[in-house]
This record gives sequence, structure tokens and C-alpha cells, in this order.
Amino acid sequence: MIRTIEWTDAGVVMLDQRMLPAEEIYNTYTTPEEVAEAIRSMVIRGAPAIGIAAAMGIALGGRRFGRQSGAQMDAQFKRTWSDMLATRPTAVNLFWAVERMKRAYERTRSGGPGAVSSALVREALKMVAEDVDSNRKMGRFGQELIPDAAGVLTHCNAGALATAGYGTALGVIRAALEAGKKIQVWADETRPFLQGARLTAWELKKDDIPVRVITDNMAGHFLKAGSIDCVLVGADRIAANGDVANKIGTYSVAVLAKENGVPFYVAAPISTLDLSIADGDGIPIEERDPEEVRSIKGVPVTPPGVEVFNPAFDVTPNRYVNAIITDRGIARPPFKESLRELAVHADTGN
Ligand code: MRU
Repeated sequence: MIRTIEWTDAGVVMLDQRMLPAEEIYNTYTTPEEVAEAIRSMVIRGAPAIGIAAAMGIALGGRRFGRQSGAQMDAQFKRTWSDMLATRPTAVNLFWAVERMKRAYERTRSGGPGAVSSALVREALKMVAEDVDSNRKMGRFGQELIPDAAGVLTHCNAGALATAGYGTALGVIRAALEAGKKIQVWADETRPFLQGARLTAWELKKDDIPVRVITDNMAGHFLKAGSIDCVLVGADRIAANGDVANKIGTYSVAVLAKENGVPFYVAAPISTLDLSIADGDGIPIEERDPEEVRSIKGVPVTPPGVEVFNPAFDVTPNRYVNAIITDRGIARPPFKESLRELAVHADTGN
């Protein structure tokens, strides 16, 4: 399995996703500040992976507690905690993971620096194991929706690289293959950061899973031609009514899918669901550096300084979504009811 992120004695080791597919480079990060910068600069990306990186960054902060008093630990923890929260605004898994680390801190604080520090590491490692487990569960539920010999269009990267392993949308594809089905994956290249062309294609090829890369503006052509049997994407945040924030361009694909009668599925763990937000209008959309649009790998593709916009995500209204595959089961419209029911299950551990 691809190692996206790993906790080691030397620090947090991450595969530098900015360098893929040309180079497979692992960097070691030893401070929370370095981890926060790695999240901001997309060394690691993808909603669940961002959450795990933030948790490990906070756990690295625990190594500095030394012989600090409770008040000193509180001040340091608060700084690290808010640094992590400020890294990327859209993926709710980040906020979910950081909140879990805060609870672990509060539970063990009275035991002193040693106890807190070990508890933070334990909590981060627990999230890694839970993430892989929830991806496998999503895979088992979701693969039933994928017909044998299907063409499956995906957007961005929602694979092992975007999680602790196995993947969300690509996890469902892996599970369909494990169930003996034949699948042809179609990967949108996903401008401007090219997560589809660089990352999805890289990880699927590594696993010998058939993949064809198309530019984003080809999706409509192949949906109309009948080459694609379903669309399957991940999510960065899902509102209570089932509106889905995902990589910019997902909305266009969803509209094209509906127009052509092709089902549109979203695969995401329950931790991507944000019941505090009623609908997609409330989801914060990250605006990234315009240079990501103006150039590719430092090579200009627009006139220098031309005005560009770079929203990193868009929101697909729930009416375009046929099903949301979670680690608790499959939610179908009306999503307000079906998602709430799955979320309650998650809270009670049923
Ligand atoms: O900007 P990124 O690369 O972090 O965006 C990632 C996506 O939009 C993914 O599709 C999403 O996080 C689902 S990942 C399992």
C-alpha cells in the first residue's frame, strides 16, 4: 500500500505529492510548524489525509512539552491547535481531527507532559487505523453500485494518497476490483493542480488498475458517448442537506452526468459530514494562489500577471447526487434524513 504519511521516531514522514509523478520523495517533518506548512503547500492534500497530518503535527508539538507547567502546555497547545486550523479552510476533516486532538489533550492534561504527549501520539495513530478501516467499509458498501465492466469517471484524487490508505472514491473502485469486477477508470486531469493527471493516474498505474486520463473539458464528450457508466468522486465537506464541496470542476461533471443520465456518486467518511452547515452556501471555499493557474511547474501558461481566479473547490447541489457512500452505509435522497440517520449511528457507535 502507498505510504502517504507515517509517524516515525524521526518525525512525520510524508510523500511529497508536489513532486509526483516525476519523483517519489519522502520528507521528514519534525515540528508542528513544518507540518502546517506542508499542508498549506500541498505536500499532503485530500480531506482525510489533511486531517491526519494535522493530528500528527499536533502530536509532534507534544514532544516539546518537556517539563512544562499546565499553563505553559496550554499556551503551546493552543498556538499549535490554531495554526493547524488556519492551514486550509474547506476540508472539514481537518477541523474534526484537530477537535479530536483537543479532546485527547483535555482528557490527559492532568497527568502532566509525559501522559499528554503519549496520548496525542496514540490518538493520531488511532485516526490512521480508523481511516483505513473506514475506507475499506466504504469500499464494501460502494462497490455494489458499480456494475461489472463499468467505465468510472473520477475527478481530482480521492485515493490512497488523499487518505491514510486505500482511498475513498478509489477505495470503492479497489473494492469493486477485489469483488472480481472489471473496471475502466477515467481520470479528469483536474486543473489547475492536476491531481487527476499526476496523482490518480500515478497511484492506479502503480496498482495496475486500468486508467485513462482526459482533460477536464473532455468529460462531457465521453459522458455523451456512453463510455462512462457512473461518476465517483470524494468530498471535502458535505452539508446537512447533502450538498457536496469537492475539487473545483466537480459541479460541472455532476451537471453533465445528470444531463446524460449517468449516476453521480460521492464516497466520503462520516467525518466529512458537517451537520452544522445546513446547505452548500455555508461551506467556506478556499481561494488559492493565482500562480497555480498562471503557470504549471513554474512554466507560464498565461501572460504574466493576468487576472485569474483560483477557487480550489466548488459545491455540487444535492439534486445532482444519486448516492453518498459512507463508512456507515449508503445515503440516498432525501439526504437531510438519510445522512442524519447515518451520523446518529456514528455517534452512538451502533
Ligand atoms: O486541494 P486538494 O487536493 O486537497 O483537494 C482534494 C479533493 O478535492 C479530493 O477530491 C477530496 O479531498 C476527497 S479526498 C478523499
